[in-house]
Amino acid sequence: MILKGKRGIISGALNDQSIAWKVAELCKAEGAEIVLTNAPISLRLGTVNELSKKLDCQLIPADATKVEDLDNLVNKSMEILGGKLDFVLHSIGMSVNIRKSKPYTDINYDWMQQSFDISAISFHKMMQSLWKADAMNEWGSILALSYIGAQRVFPHYHEMSEAKSLLESFARSFGYHFGVRNHVRVNTISQSPTPTTAGSGIKGFEEFLNYAEKMSPIGNAPAEDCAKYCVSLFSDYTRYVTLQNLYHDGGFSNMGMSGMMMEIGD
Ligand SMILES: NC(=O)c1ccc[n+]([C@@H]2O[C@H](COP(=O)([O-])OP(=O)(O)OC[C@H]3O[C@@H](n4cnc5c(N)ncnc54)[C@H](O)[C@@H]3O)[C@@H](O)[C@H]2O)c1
Repeated sequence: MILKGKRGIISGALNDQSIAWKVAELCKAEGAEIVLTNAPISLRLGTVNELSKKLDCQLIPADATKVEDLDNLVNKSMEILGGKLDFVLHSIGMSVNIRKSKPYTDINYDWMQQSFDISAISFHKMMQSLWKADAMNEWGSILALSYIGAQRVFPHYHEMSEAKSLLESFARSFGYHFGVRNHVRVNTISQSPTPTTAGSGIKGFEEFLNYAEKMSPIGNAPAEDCAKYCVSLFSDYTRYVTLQNLYHDGGFSNMGMSGMMMEIGD
């Protein structure tokens, strides 16, 4: 019960494969009270309503690109949960150019801006809503999910590479202000490729999943384990971890080549 007495917002649970779905389940199991949120359209396309019933928690629709939706989300969450918040998860990502099969070398810039807005600027907007409402408790924790495409070239990750670089930078820059004012920490977790709706939108995802599995000494990190890492970062056991991009990838990020990849055994 390492989150007993804590209150938080979990965004991005679309269906039972979503990383945020597993985080929400574990937060409840560890004693937290939570509010779920997703874009109005995702509420219709996905099954997050089921999760809200199962966990007996409220679901507040919010398009993460709209400041008024986020302000409403923050204020309503404090009302429902009965006080300021201890943790917030940003688990939101979408590339319009990938969805519309536009090549990286022939990009549509309006779509690129939409992708950045959904996948990265929404994190700044979320933090600014929390900041302006003074919604975070002392020693709270704000977390977003990222991917190593922010640092290294993964051609099919497309414009999401730049979106994730921006996301990680917002974590550091806003994390400074939150740290100084409220001892609130802001981090990103850089997760292994994971079979979810967002993940499987990437071209060649299955092959890439296999490649990453063979390159990682411990193997790809499952969504359930990502949830455990998130919960540890919401707990009081990690109060001085801030402004970090934390790899949760079975060791992939520090590998050059592996025996398994070269098919020569260990
Ligand atoms: N799946 C992977 O391989 C992988 C790896 C590393 C990081 N991540 C990141 O993890 C996070 C969660 O993705 P996932 O893999 O669980 O997939 P997912 O498809 O289950 O979740 C993505 C979520 O973003 C939400 N979303 C999209 N546009 C939105 C908007 N305008 N407002 C509010 N919400 C919106 C969707 O409704 C969905 O719930 C994303 O940031 C993703 O980039 C995923």
